[in-house]
Amino acid sequence: MGYRFGRADIAFLACAAGRAALAEVDRLELTSATHLRDLERVRRDHGEHAAALVETVRLRRKAAAKLHGAGDWLFTDDALQQATPTPVARHRAARLAGRAVHDVTCSIGAELVELAEVCPAVVGSDLDEVRLAIAAHNLGSRWAPLPGGDPAGPRNVLLAKADAVVPSSTGTVIIADPARRADGRRTHDPAKLQPPLPDLLDAYAGRDIAVKCAPGLDFDRLDWYGEIEVVSLDGAVREACLWSAGLTESGVARRATVLSSRREPEVLTDAEPDELPEHPPGEWIIDPDGAIVRAGLVRHYAARHGLWQLDPHIAYLTGDAVPDGVRGFRIEDRLELREKTLRQELARRGCGALEILVRGVDVDPDALRKRLKLKGSEPYTLVITRIGRTAAAFLCIAHAGAER
Ligand SMILES: C[S@@+](CC[C@H](N)C(=O)[O-])C[C@H]1O[C@@H](n2cnc3c(N)ncnc32)[C@H](O)[C@@H]1O
Repeated sequence: MGYRFGRADIAFLACAAGRAALAEVDRLELTSATHLRDLERVRRDHGEHAAALVETVRLRRKAAAKLHGAGDWLFTDDALQQATPTPVARHRAARLAGRAVHDVTCSIGAELVELAEVCPAVVGSDLDEVRLAIAAHNLGSRWAPLPGGDPAGPRNVLLAKADAVVPSSTGTVIIADPARRADGRRTHDPAKLQPPLPDLLDAYAGRDIAVKCAPGLDFDRLDWYGEIEVVSLDGAVREACLWSAGLTESGVARRATVLSSRREPEVLTDAEPDELPEHPPGEWIIDPDGAIVRAGLVRHYAARHGLWQLDPHIAYLTGDAVPDGVRGFRIEDRLELREKTLRQELARRGCGALEILVRGVDVDPDALRKRLKLKGSEPYTLVITRIGRTAAAFLCIAHAGAER
């Protein structure tokens, strides 16, 4: 939960004395071993501001992996956890480039800063006044205080306290990111999001809107007539985003966006072909990125890369080459799914580290690994899956894909 910041804390941390104090506290280690000693020192030097200072330095260090260029930002613990990672926010902003946009759940501004780079006019609103004060700080010179403020610098963002389910701007594209915690717990029920998803969609019916949702949302129960985009970053599925029909190309209902900090994004939609040949397993097995699986675009991905399916109902793909930048599993052997057979073959090959991937078969990888009593040193991957009615085990060697 972390320290509860008030507006007075934010005003202090954002002023010159607060910035100097933060720089001083940032020189401390603040590890679990030094925490008590460090805290005592900060209390002695900065009195009532100690907790806010220590928490801010702690959160800035944590934020570095998620938010780019946020070294002098302010946070609350919850707001940092909820913030959209920079590459994902940048990707959404790029889709809205050139439009006037209103982020109706702007929090501390992680999406606003990216929108401000590519949109001529941006409005950010939220119900939480502390978060709005933090957003004003984080936006720096991009935030336009109302008339009478300092006229210097680019100013294309307006901040206001407003309830997201009561429209307060016209002519803007709406973006929303309802909080997924209700009563301190994570929820997947759209009606329990804050603000509730059905209320948001009612409030902006007929408007261009993009709503960030949990990737685990049950898309089929949603009755959504626009596009559903699933986004992953560095192999982890981060979110689903509902895009109203006016914000997508005609004929696109599903999109998978695979973002990577090492290579160009891969974007795939259901408007692409998904005709696949039927062949026996090729030289490689490929486990498509979670965004592609979650978006239901496994066949489209296979068609694009000249792959085919091991089984029409299972998301593993196979082929004679691995798409650029993707980790593939070179098939060494196809084995019977019997523990005795597996144990003997793994011992013969001197296997000491076994990654086990399972789809379509009821196997607990950790329990199986223990029972296989590995003793060697060689690394292998075992892909256990179903082909038709038969369980199959492919012994493979994993290869990291070449970068594009
Ligand atoms: C998940 S956070 C948004 C995070 C933001 N997209 C970011 O990247 O930093 C959800 C925000 O919605 C705000 N909120 C909840 N209910 C609201 C409502 N009815 N109207 C406006 N904001 C609301 C919360 O205060 C919170 O800041």
